[in-house]
Amino acid sequence: MDLVIKNGTIVTATESYQADIGVDGETIALIGRDLSGDEVIDANGLYVMPGGVDPHTHMELPFMGSVSADDFRTGTIAAACGGTTTIIDFAIQGAGQTLREALDIWLKKAEGKASIDYGMHVAIGAMDDERMAEMGDMVDIGVPSFKVFMAYKGSFMVDDETLFRSLLRAKEIGGLISVHAENGDVLNYLINKHVAEGKKEPIWHALSHPPETEAEATHRAVVLAGMTGAPLYVVHMTCADALEALKTGRAKGFKVYGETCPQYLMFSMEKYEEPGFEGAKYVMSPPLREKGNSEALWKGLASGDLQAVGTDHCPFNFVGQKDMGKDDFSKIPNGMPSVETRLPLIYHFGVNEGLFSINRFVELVATGPARLFGLLPRKGTIVIGADADLVIWDPDKEHRLTKENLHMNVDYSPYEDVTVKGYPALVLQRGQVIVKDNEFVGQVGAGRFLKRNPIHL
Ligand code: URP
Ligand code: ZN
Ligand code: ZN
Repeated sequence: MDLVIKNGTIVTATESYQADIGVDGETIALIGRDLSGDEVIDANGLYVMPGGVDPHTHMELPFMGSVSADDFRTGTIAAACGGTTTIIDFAIQGAGQTLREALDIWLKKAEGKASIDYGMHVAIGAMDDERMAEMGDMVDIGVPSFKVFMAYKGSFMVDDETLFRSLLRAKEIGGLISVHAENGDVLNYLINKHVAEGKKEPIWHALSHPPETEAEATHRAVVLAGMTGAPLYVVHMTCADALEALKTGRAKGFKVYGETCPQYLMFSMEKYEEPGFEGAKYVMSPPLREKGNSEALWKGLASGDLQAVGTDHCPFNFVGQKDMGKDDFSKIPNGMPSVETRLPLIYHFGVNEGLFSINRFVELVATGPARLFGLLPRKGTIVIGADADLVIWDPDKEHRLTKENLHMNVDYSPYEDVTVKGYPALVLQRGQVIVKDNEFVGQVGAGRFLKRNPIHL
């Protein structure tokens, strides 16, 4: 055995037990007692969990006149430091591009820079017969998930026909459609109205994106998924009413799944009224909601009504990017840094606070996303034959989530005042230690593109 991780408590989505893990090369070769190997890591008093799988990141995304501040190098290093060993990013089909062309652009961004393993979704910008055919090619090359934006009129938004055709095709080919569910036409009207009325402070971002527009779009997407029989994954869910729409669909037997993100669990829309322009740090779509919604989301994570926690990591610097919208909220680039803090926040506020078990935590941040997106059992769990992507988690380690203590390439932390208990001591990818004591010690660019399996949920 090349490496043995001894004396730890192995935690998967279903079990916690004491055993050693033997790693040969890049994969888990043995799980048992009293294993020996060339190299030994003593995990006494620590948890050994599968590396986190973040199914929703936007590295180097050109968006709203700017580009998200983390590229695949800085963003994946930050992800690793927070215990995430796999991300799935989004290649976005631009005007006149094929899906393949869009994918190639994003693969180029990642190549030589991604320092953890990564997959790609493709966001569909325009649908025609050729694109329908191309969706099948995407599945064949390991890209079985597609994104449809129901918002951002004038840029990413597509119409319902595109959504419906994408669902029909996904059902045929073993694909999964993700949706950004907000009613883009209504948002467009409200944004323009508020700006014209001179209502331009960050709070008007939230008031231009009311929860009804998310609930309505979620309901619409869920119904269309039900009509087609295709699986649907609703990204970054923020509010109780949208969650209700998802639950209703599931109760009818539709294969509909939901993700929320730490920012919607941690904050409410009061953030937009912080003095000065501070509220811009939290401008994203959908926006933060009124208090009460985050409680519904936490409950949804615990009960199984929600199936995954992603990040929607899409950071923009406060100075030089967010301030493009200093005089007009509609020009503030939408998005927040999140990829590094997902596991620590969900562990601290979910597990330490007694909302759910550590096994449910593993399900939400690793196993669930891996299962939904065609990566199980290679990623997201601890079984013989899986990649040895492991987080050695110290449940007693306290960490303040200040900008200085984090690695994301952005000039603020949304969590300056937050200290969590529970943090990675070591992170391994394919058997190699890549993070030790909050420092990346892996190899820049060593992340591999993951060809994922067709998705049959
Ligand atoms: O505000 C957000 N969420 N920015 C990233 C793009 C998206 O909608 O996922
Ligand atoms: Zn979105
Ligand atoms: Zn997103």
